Amino acid sequence: MSTSTTAVSFKQYGGTAADNYERYFVPTIGLPFATALLNAAGLQPGERILDIACGTGVVTRLAAERVGPSGTVAGVDINPAMLAVARSVPSSGAAIEWHEATAESLPLADGSFDVVLSSLGLQFVPDKASALREMRRVLAPDGHLAVATVGPTPPPFAILEQALARYVKPEAAAFMRVVFSLHEPEELEGLVSGAGFRDVEVRSTALTLTFPGPEEFLWQYVHSTPLAAAVAQIDDAGRAALQGDVVIGLRSFVKDGTLDIDANVVLTTAST
Ligand SMILES: C[S@@+](CC[C@H](N)C(=O)[O-])C[C@H]1O[C@@H](n2cnc3c(N)ncnc32)[C@H](O)[C@@H]1O
Repeated sequence: MSTSTTAVSFKQYGGTAADNYERYFVPTIGLPFATALLNAAGLQPGERILDIACGTGVVTRLAAERVGPSGTVAGVDINPAMLAVARSVPSSGAAIEWHEATAESLPLADGSFDVVLSSLGLQFVPDKASALREMRRVLAPDGHLAVATVGPTPPPFAILEQALARYVKPEAAAFMRVVFSLHEPEELEGLVSGAGFRDVEVRSTALTLTFPGPEEFLWQYVHSTPLAAAVAQIDDAGRAALQGDVVIGLRSFVKDGTLDIDANVVLTTAST
């Protein structure tokens, strides 16, 4: 693999991380997790739904379809660029309100939702106890919580983490560890019960995530996440080395021309 090929490969995914997130991350990773979460949540027509750390809105839009036009849906995210993409994607069913806010301090009334959802977001929230207390505050009596997280780290992501540590910087590898940091049942149970929820259940389900190939996986993932800024700071030779390590490391996960990664979705459900 020549250095110039790698440079083209890196640059062809230019564009904002939020646009790339919707284009690459959502179909390959976000959607399978969102579907597992929505299936666990069992939403009913007419319900009032809140999606925390909604990103570009994959869960929010699926929830709007499921509760239909008689329901109401709101999405909250800290990142205005993700919300701008969320607002631009068409949806059907319930009307959706988007709010720029932190999960730890929701600009929403007490008891105003039937179900709070969150997919692939809680692990990034610095003060998880406050965020879960806020989720409980905005839920009505008899309200429900359903949260999806991911982990432990699948071997292909461990290979990516090691290559990032080697060729980019320790903070890039640390980001990967945060992604897969919130999956231990005891920790999730303690956090959710500690916020005052009842009937807390944590269960894991296996998912297979499918990517076009190792090179596409690397650059699509990098360009859809905060890793893009860190990888932009190294030179073409460093990016070639990063790609070389990842492509070689992931070779054994390629089957019939696609890269298949087995991951665990961790579903935490509870009631108020
Ligand atoms: C991996 S994305 C998940 C987005 C979406 N739930 C999905 O499944 O595609 C993580 C999201 O968490 C948001 N986030 C991180 N910390 C947050 C916080 N403290 N409050 C609200 N949102 C936060 C980020 O801005 C990002 O959009």
